[in-house]
Amino acid sequence: MAFRTHILGAAAGGGLPQWNCGCPNCAAARAGQIPAQTQSSLAVTGDGETWAILNASPDIRGQLADATPLRPTGLRNLPLSSVLVTNGDIDHVAGLLTLREMQPFTLFATETIHEVLRANPIFEALNPTVVTRRPIALDRPFDLAPGLSATLFAVPGKVPLYMESETVETRLLGENTVGVDLRAQGKRIFYIPGCACLNDDLRARIKGADVLFFDGTLWRDDEMIREGLGQKTGARMGHMSMSGPDGSLNAFGGLDIARRVYVHMNNTNPVLRPDSPERAEAEAAGWTIGTDGMEVIP
Ligand code: MLT
Ligand code: MN
Ligand code: ZN
Repeated sequence: MAFRTHILGAAAGGGLPQWNCGCPNCAAARAGQIPAQTQSSLAVTGDGETWAILNASPDIRGQLADATPLRPTGLRNLPLSSVLVTNGDIDHVAGLLTLREMQPFTLFATETIHEVLRANPIFEALNPTVVTRRPIALDRPFDLAPGLSATLFAVPGKVPLYMESETVETRLLGENTVGVDLRAQGKRIFYIPGCACLNDDLRARIKGADVLFFDGTLWRDDEMIREGLGQKTGARMGHMSMSGPDGSLNAFGGLDIARRVYVHMNNTNPVLRPDSPERAEAEAAGWTIGTDGMEVIP
């Protein structure tokens, strides 16, 4: 199939195991008892040959070494046409620094996120004669890769963690956090790795989609607190949880979405354990738990 996706990294920022984390999941991953997962990124192709990378994670070097369809086809030639970032979070932009070795591609983001990158001079490492930065307006389709159209749309979220001020609006709608509507060959795939809540606009957009990749950061809102790993709820981090009355597990039922896949899972999430009751519950509700290297075809 020409139009297809390849999960480069299924975990949220930190990955599984996270370098400094001794939680049960991270310990199990370190011991090889559950599969390790790298940080948040998805590759997509519309023609089966040339790819776009959605979010450039700090793990991108290893992700590309492992992803057979994205191997170099020439001396300095990856079949890569563009990189798109959906927000300015470190897990989604730090990998841009790895992509600095004179490989031409177009870097797509909203103007707000381009501003964030411009304010960080380290990203000048991406030589402007080789990497073209293109600002994308919300709700206007553009060509992301050959045969592949994309549209960015606002989803509830917040500014990047490193830009937070004293008061933080966690359900901000604008150019800080976007979802991606991908279209090719009459099929529709949605990629939404970060989303604070399901609103009417999002519900209407994703109705009838062929594939939805969605924010699977936490199983429950107070998961990090209960594990003794911090004071923040999922809501405070701008992430909608899987379980609970407003959780994504239930919220997306009845929307006629052919395939629903969780990505951006935090290392505390019990669904990362293949034999957990939470994973069984998610699968029974029609969700697939994304894993590194998984190919999803619409
Ligand atoms: C998030 O998804 O909440 C962010 O990646 C957090 C972070 O930047 O560490
Ligand atoms: Mn993240
Ligand atoms: Zn952990």
